[in-house]
Amino acid sequence: MKPGSVRIAHVSDVHFGKIAAPDVVDALVADVHASGADLVAVSGDLTQRALPRQYAAARDFLARFEAPVIVVPGNHDVYAWWRPAGRLLNPLRRYRQYVTEDLTPSVRLEGLSVFGLNSATGWTVKGGHVRPADRLRMTEFFKAAPEDDFRILVVHHHLTRVRALGPHDVARNAEDTLDAAVACGVDLVLCGHLHISHIEPIEIVPADHRLVIASAGTATSSRGRRQHRKSNFYNVVTVEAESFRVEERLFDPDAGSFRAEMETSFSRGAASATV
Ligand SMILES: [Fe+2]
Ligand SMILES: [Fe+2]
Repeated sequence: MKPGSVRIAHVSDVHFGKIAAPDVVDALVADVHASGADLVAVSGDLTQRALPRQYAAARDFLARFEAPVIVVPGNHDVYAWWRPAGRLLNPLRRYRQYVTEDLTPSVRLEGLSVFGLNSATGWTVKGGHVRPADRLRMTEFFKAAPEDDFRILVVHHHLTRVRALGPHDVARNAEDTLDAAVACGVDLVLCGHLHISHIEPIEIVPADHRLVIASAGTATSSRGRRQHRKSNFYNVVTVEAESFRVEERLFDPDAGSFRAEMETSFSRGAASATV
């Protein structure tokens, strides 16, 4: 880990096709830029219905970030149900065409290893599924990472139930994927899908490992849920030598900009969080 710090902007569920307000996308790009992010992690649902014009908007959006971007797809990024053949045979064809061919992306910065898992398939409706081969790639990537690296996994769907979020979807084989993430020392999972902003540390017994789940709200769409209905959030993660923190940033429509809503801090490697 380098002496300074490294900063990651975590953006999710942008949902081009359901943008909440004309200025929210510009405000998000400006806020990410002002945060000084070294990396932008986008955890899926770039589009509302995987339509070409929505993907074109998503592609242009991703190109606006100055920092490198790591991106994974969400369930809304596969062909919609009225395109059953495409949905089953090549569900992410447009994602590959407009966004990236790489469905197991990874990034290494000094002191930081980040891996992205695809959980969006054509045959699950909402819950998602991680392919065993992709899980293996994740394990190999983290095994090869320097021992002291902070490890981040980016995935659209949740890998475990978070009680505070009430009943919610998890990936079908979430347990296997979570076990693999724990075995390779993942410190932080950046996910989305639920459109509720929530940060929670999870104790994995008996592995004696704590990982933090950062569930991002929808960054720009009108699809916020429950307590975050009509709200837009994204996260700024700052990783330092001994600690890390997640700042949830909320869009203020009156100001036309994002502002800090809550910050949660954790010591690195310790079993409990300091909030
Ligand atoms: Fe979504
Ligand atoms: Fe989703």
